[in-house]
Amino acid sequence: MLTEEERNEIEAIMGHYPLAAAAGIEALRIVQRHRRWISDATLCEVAEFLGITPTELDAVATFYNLIFRQPVGRHVILVCDSVSCWIMGYDNLLEKLKSRLNVDLGQTTSDGRFTLLPHVCLGACDRAPVMMIDDQLYGELDADKIDAILANYA
Ligand code: FES
Repeated sequence: MLTEEERNEIEAIMGHYPLAAAAGIEALRIVQRHRRWISDATLCEVAEFLGITPTELDAVATFYNLIFRQPVGRHVILVCDSVSCWIMGYDNLLEKLKSRLNVDLGQTTSDGRFTLLPHVCLGACDRAPVMMIDDQLYGELDADKIDAILANYA
């Protein structure tokens, strides 16, 4: 069941959208903020609350790749793998992250602290290479900066 807090937050944004289905992404983002990821059961609850089918909502969730449909760690690292970042050192950055966290792309650390995911352009090409941890963007990265950045996340 959606919590009262989740319901209230979704209702608060529904007025901004002409159709309930259009509020789908934002509704899922709200619930994801509370639960970290969107299970099948949660997706059905949100769809029912919006008055649309789970299939309709799942199509939206699949299209928008920042809705996590599998469990993720406490913090999600999105590493940009688009062209500017690729040119500016994506390979070194990714190798550092993978070795430091002992995971591959798409995996979560054994302590549940981080999930490492690839992502298309994060919109900060002038600061390439770039990664995002939760809502915080980090640019002009090199492997030497990674340890200090990760230390900020419990
Ligand atoms: S290519 Fe990486 S932020 Fe645009």
